[in-house]
Amino acid sequence: MIDERLAHIRHAVRELEAMTGGVVPRALVVLGSGLGGVVDAMEVSSELPFEALPGYAASAVIGHAGRFVFGTLSGTPVLAMLGRLHMYEGHPVERVVLPMRAAATLGCKVLIATNAAGGIAPRLRVGQTMMFTDHINLMGANPLTGANIEELGVRFPPMAEAYSPRLIAMAREIADAAGADMAEGVYAAVPGPNYETRAEIRYLHAVGADAVGMSTVPEIIAARHAGMECAAFSLIANVAGEMTDSHEHVLTAVEDGAPVMAGVVAGILARL
Ligand code: HPA
Repeated sequence: MIDERLAHIRHAVRELEAMTGGVVPRALVVLGSGLGGVVDAMEVSSELPFEALPGYAASAVIGHAGRFVFGTLSGTPVLAMLGRLHMYEGHPVERVVLPMRAAATLGCKVLIATNAAGGIAPRLRVGQTMMFTDHINLMGANPLTGANIEELGVRFPPMAEAYSPRLIAMAREIADAAGADMAEGVYAAVPGPNYETRAEIRYLHAVGADAVGMSTVPEIIAARHAGMECAAFSLIANVAGEMTDSHEHVLTAVEDGAPVMAGVVAGILARL
């Protein structure tokens, strides 16, 4: 099993190396649904559909474009993912994290992940960007389960500073300088795909979660295991447990909020 996982990683590394012409991207950036705006600011040199990567797969989620985009942003070489694979689509967790492991093996040192999430903390408003300060893994899965891949990292990696204080400080500075109202908080990852019950939201609030979603945490765990420095951002798309917001309202809020998140992410990339 470990051989098969390593074979997929090595194959993915070769494909990505071919895509970037041997240039090591300064960061891997995962852009969730409706959050592809960062790519507009990039000078794109090559693209690769997800399904072209052996061991990976096409994205089946509407609104997730499903391709890798390589290029530069303010001169910084960046590998972006338009969309991601989710466990709720039925993908095994090691497939979900293949791009992070391949990027780390390639020599890429930073992961920036974005997603849409439900807001739990009353202080969060729909359309606001929340920077992760920490996470709670409630997915019932972990990409490090099974024989440890020693080539990537240690058996028992610490997760106490999963989100880089350096990148958090950088993002805070960028948001404040732009006058952007960026929140900070704890993200809880659940398997989905159903949205939470009200009792589940009360539970998540009680255990310290500020926002809830169905992605990102496996990516962070795999990236930290492989030694990457990580930052993550949620666009608050709705009030969690209250999917009664008018759909138009949510779409408008997300559309209005997406440029703020894109600006912070682009600002970090420009400084790497
Ligand atoms: N719950 C879980 N995942 C989500 C939500 C939510 O309310 N909104 C967007 N992704």
